[in-house]
Amino acid sequence: MTSSGAADTEESITSLKDEALAGLAAASGAEALEQWRVEFLGRKGRLTGVLRNLGSLDESARRSAGAAANRLKGELEAAFDERRTASQRSGTETGPGDSGRSGGRTGAIDVTLPGRRSRTGRLHPSTQMIREMLEAFNEMGFQTVEGNEVELERYNFDMLNLPADHPARDMQDTIWIDRSSRSEGGGVLLRTQTSPMQPRTMEKQDPPVRIVSPGKCFRIEATDATHEWQFHQVEGLAVDEGLSFADLKGTLYEFARRIFGAGRKVRFRCDFFPFVEPGVDMSVDWNGRWVEILGAGMVHPQVLRNVGYDPEKYTGFAFGVGPERVAMLKYGIEDIRHFFSNDLRFLSQF
Ligand code: PHE
Repeated sequence: MTSSGAADTEESITSLKDEALAGLAAASGAEALEQWRVEFLGRKGRLTGVLRNLGSLDESARRSAGAAANRLKGELEAAFDERRTASQRSGTETGPGDSGRSGGRTGAIDVTLPGRRSRTGRLHPSTQMIREMLEAFNEMGFQTVEGNEVELERYNFDMLNLPADHPARDMQDTIWIDRSSRSEGGGVLLRTQTSPMQPRTMEKQDPPVRIVSPGKCFRIEATDATHEWQFHQVEGLAVDEGLSFADLKGTLYEFARRIFGAGRKVRFRCDFFPFVEPGVDMSVDWNGRWVEILGAGMVHPQVLRNVGYDPEKYTGFAFGVGPERVAMLKYGIEDIRHFFSNDLRFLSQF
């Protein structure tokens, strides 16, 4: 063969290269890539064909054309590997749902598709209600303080004018943690109310006091639609010179107005709690039925004395509201047990 044969071969190598690279750029998806590989790099492919024809060239032409063909082989293999890796990567990013789309370029990302919605959590309805109640009281000048669910008998009962033999302790059947040192008031229990935050707060500071204290409480209860063995309370306490029952009523009326609106009927009735005198409860109208949402009263002089306050100089009022009860009235929830059953059908409504 002549040297013009060598020139032809080198020319065909160059045009094969151009064609192959253009074809590779256009090949999209695993199938098209494999087709390309067979056509250009396969055992019976076009590059092999070129290599096979080298035998008809004279030696020096064969050497230079052979080197060019081998270089091309290396280049095409490298380009192919790179393209396949890129295609696999974008294929996983588009996801398996993509492969079935006709006409679409498999592996391409359709940026116009709507994103996947991620499900977000939310606050528990009790927490939401508590926060709304705290906000109402905070705006009236009450500061939020928090206590512990595990409480000393001394604060849950004794300091609140409920000595060990007091029959009113039976009103709140208690879950005890440690009763061994009960006789000294040192028993440990799950608090039955948030009222221990009254003496705990007063012990630490002088009047005036204006606090609200939210938290969980526990009692041994036969549960029903309005009673649970675990529930929350928001305690309130105000102590100052000259506070009267009118202040108590004004505060709680305003609270009810903010939570339920001005039209909702509320009523006070006499009630008994050992740490207040006089004591009341407040109920809210629920379709013609009265539902109690809080206990309240003027702080008992003995409770003031227990923390070293002078009951001749200071008076105060206290209240304890049940946020689950409030939420039931506000949102028409018919069973308090929903709050602690962890049923998403209930929880996701709020
Ligand atoms: N702690 C009382 C209860 O759980 C409610 C209450 C609080 C009553 C404050 C009066 C004053 O029933």
